[in-house]
Amino acid sequence: MNRILAIDDKADNLVVLRAMMKMLLPECVMLQALSGEEGIRIAKEQRPDTILLDVLMPGMDGYETTRRLKADPDTAPIPVILLTAVENNAANRTAGLKAGADAFLSKPIEEEELVAQVRAMLRFRESENVLKNRMDGLEELVAIRTRELKESADRLALTLDQAISVLANTVETKDPYTAGHQVRCAALALALGREMRLAPPQLRGVHMAARIHDIGKIKIPSEILSKPGKITPLEFSLIQEHPAVGEGIVAPIVFPWPVGRMIAQHHERLDGAGYPQGLSGDEILLEAKVIAVADVVEAISSYRPYRPALGIEAALGEIEANIGTKYDPDAVRACTSLFREQRFWFDE
Ligand SMILES: [Fe+2]
Repeated sequence: MNRILAIDDKADNLVVLRAMMKMLLPECVMLQALSGEEGIRIAKEQRPDTILLDVLMPGMDGYETTRRLKADPDTAPIPVILLTAVENNAANRTAGLKAGADAFLSKPIEEEELVAQVRAMLRFRESENVLKNRMDGLEELVAIRTRELKESADRLALTLDQAISVLANTVETKDPYTAGHQVRCAALALALGREMRLAPPQLRGVHMAARIHDIGKIKIPSEILSKPGKITPLEFSLIQEHPAVGEGIVAPIVFPWPVGRMIAQHHERLDGAGYPQGLSGDEILLEAKVIAVADVVEAISSYRPYRPALGIEAALGEIEANIGTKYDPDAVRACTSLFREQRFWFDE
């Protein structure tokens, strides 16, 4: 059933209108109000499908009532038909249109015109509803698809993290002495990156590369990795291959960050004295410089097969002694600040 709200200050007019509607528009029920104020209240509460509104009313007239109905988002979509007892001339129609009216009927009301106008407004309302339902459906669909996409991106990110952990564990099983080194180094590299205000995607790249930066050690014989005491030049040359080997291992994975290059460059030093390529300065990725500092600090402060743990002060001493020559100054400053002022510590 369609609901039509009739607003007229004269109760007699409403009685006549009700009788006409009952006969001519049996698909409609009529709500009624005797003033603009009452009409606005009913319109807001009941949301009728169309409003028939008298222009000449004491107090708030039809134009003002229309303006208020159209200014309220709750009632604005409801079509308003103005009933103009005054001469239905161009000036009145213009005033009505300016107020926001959708159609006009002149009094006394012609039966056919009433039916035609009301039905036109109802059709208009109906097509608006159809459109709105379609829009709502589309919005819902977009929300569902967005949620699905996010879930699938989250799942992918989790899978990548798991794959990285598996890779990290592989080399750590072979080289138990550095077990935990990569995890602690990654935690420190991430903290350094945050301290240096790297962008979130860069931070994620740094963390992931640091988690597997020594993956290339898988190719180095266990005897060399766990050898106590000094290593020979030949053994050292084998060790020096691990950054490039690591880069090769991750090459088939398409990361959104240059993880391979970060791994390849984690032993490069600012002054060109690092390995394997002897890159210097800007040739080295900032992310690799961050990982280098985290790597050195974690390694010196922890136990190694060829020496006892030297402690954090020795580690900070090494990077401070070589600030700007071997190690990136910002990364060094971030690191000393983290340990000395912010009580950063490696989780066991
Ligand atoms: Fe390394």
